[in-house]
Amino acid sequence: MLPRLPLALLAALLLPLADAAPEPASLTIDLAAPGGKVSPIHYGLMTEEINFSYDGGLYAELIRNRAFLDDPAKPAHWSVVASAPAAAAITLDPRQPLNRAIPASLRLEATAATPATPAGVANEGYWGIPVKPSTRYRASFHAKAAPGFTGPLSVAITSLDGATVYARGRVDRIISDWSAYEVVLKTGAKIAPTTRARLTLTVEHPGTVWLGFVSLFPPTWKNRPNGLRPDLMQMLVDLKPGFLRFPGGNYLEGDTIDTRFKWWETIGPVDRRPGHPGPWGYRSTDGMGLLEFLLWTTDMGAEPVLALYAGYSLKGDYVQPGPDLEPFIREALDEIEYVVGPVTSKGGALRARDGHPEPFPLRYVEIGNEDWFDKSGSYDARYTQFAAAIKQAYPALKCISSIGNEQPAGKRVKSTRPDVLDEHYYRNTEAFLKDSPTHFDRYDRAGPEIFVGEWAAHETAFPPWDAKSRGLAPTPTMKAALGDAAWMSAMERHADFVTMQCYAPLFANVNGYQWRPNLIGYDALDSFGSPSYHAFRMYSRQVGDTLLSPVQTGGAPLHASATRATREGVVYLKLVNAEADARTLEIRLAGARRIGSTARVETLAAAPEATNSITDRAKVVPLVTKRKGVGAVFSQTLPPHSITVLRLEAQ
Ligand code: AHR
Repeated sequence: MLPRLPLALLAALLLPLADAAPEPASLTIDLAAPGGKVSPIHYGLMTEEINFSYDGGLYAELIRNRAFLDDPAKPAHWSVVASAPAAAAITLDPRQPLNRAIPASLRLEATAATPATPAGVANEGYWGIPVKPSTRYRASFHAKAAPGFTGPLSVAITSLDGATVYARGRVDRIISDWSAYEVVLKTGAKIAPTTRARLTLTVEHPGTVWLGFVSLFPPTWKNRPNGLRPDLMQMLVDLKPGFLRFPGGNYLEGDTIDTRFKWWETIGPVDRRPGHPGPWGYRSTDGMGLLEFLLWTTDMGAEPVLALYAGYSLKGDYVQPGPDLEPFIREALDEIEYVVGPVTSKGGALRARDGHPEPFPLRYVEIGNEDWFDKSGSYDARYTQFAAAIKQAYPALKCISSIGNEQPAGKRVKSTRPDVLDEHYYRNTEAFLKDSPTHFDRYDRAGPEIFVGEWAAHETAFPPWDAKSRGLAPTPTMKAALGDAAWMSAMERHADFVTMQCYAPLFANVNGYQWRPNLIGYDALDSFGSPSYHAFRMYSRQVGDTLLSPVQTGGAPLHASATRATREGVVYLKLVNAEADARTLEIRLAGARRIGSTARVETLAAAPEATNSITDRAKVVPLVTKRKGVGAVFSQTLPPHSITVLRLEAQ
């Protein structure tokens, strides 16, 4: 039974209930109370050879298994071309090596061939050869003729059944010593783009010829020889990345010490690079080597964050700190010298030999990758030994520990203070939404700097490395993008000490991937950005130099961050509404001297399950509008499941 209360008291108690309509959500940004400086390289990229990121991806080479090293037992991805009465056989021939680095060649023995019925070999490419109209392809190969064979040898891009020839060229004479040949193939203006094509090398007389290092390049970014795929480069340049973390990731470490990223085997002429087995189930050509990484970085206007192999490999091998580690430290110092040394140094001279006398900028090096997996507990000593040697040779370089605060204290480096800690976060959207509001509040703004060197939201209950991931699409949905955006706002609110952050993995060939989700998907011909790509692009392109602190009152918590571009007199306000209902928000710009009445509004909004794919590449893309009525107080409606960036003219 209710206690008997005086009427006045009862009324006073009931009043708040009657008034209980939720307080409208309001977000105040005080422009007169700026926070710290935003790291100018807060947004960057992380890359490694995974999901056919380079071979079959960014690296524009179209021939798969060009050096015949993918499988020692057979010429993988190559097949015989011979329609009756033509006849031919192909085998790997270790007795006719191209050179010491590439100890295999392909022996083509044509037993019956005529100009009308040629015989030869075909390469299937990385899930097809992309054929585009009015395009020049540069085919090159090494060949050596057996006695009695002098050519000619025809090179063509044809349909899979050979019935359509998209482009053709010819070498009239093949000599009996290993020699290099080159042919330009040009497609006609009227052909329809396709991936259902192959490269063929055929002869029209019986005979035997050995082929080595067969290569086919389409036009590349900035027309660089041995260059990169223009569509993918454009997507990266559009992100305005401040840095590129390379070469891994697990790819740096390798499964074993012997299969680590040996930088010195990835430089020099491509037909002398042996390549190596990668940790993601396929062999790397190393056509994308150390110099190509550096040029790639330069072409994006970014700086390199160079990861150095530090004596631990994925299957658990590790190098004892102390004298055993010294050769590995030497490797790392030599690698740094290749990047930054003057041409008078050994490393700088090598780089000049490779065509790049100018040193590259380098401020950060990372010592190892995810060394918390090293059960021996040797990282503390390995890091300390590496960092001491690096600092002695290059005092200005900042050393990054591959173990951050998200790992148990016992795993972290204690014997010395790292300049930067690399933290990795692969979490589902719910976890990011929950943690983002407060995660970095407990960090010490005085440092070490934080590098979120790998992160991504997944929309699944299981993590990316779970086998169940394999049957799913390579790129994430809008639901993941909402988690990503909340997390990016969390990092951006602390972008004074979270100096760098990058999503991982960056790339996936939709025909062959080992991990999901990934930012960008492609096949041989086309590419697309996932909703997460578009979210990242919205964030990374619209960031100021000074932190502002949005303070919310009322309503369910939103995810927000704000920065000011001081010189431009612009405030970028980022807002994430992860809920299923639209939200109207009152925005208050306090302490402003001037506020423009219009704003640019970029919005990415879609159902949580919506996504882009290779066949539907622009289903989820941002919409840009201009809004009026901006002032010291104005309201903004955020659509359900949306990410919004407001560009406000305010100072
Ligand atoms: O990004 C995929 C992998 O995740 C990286 O290679 C590794 O560093 C991490 O475990």
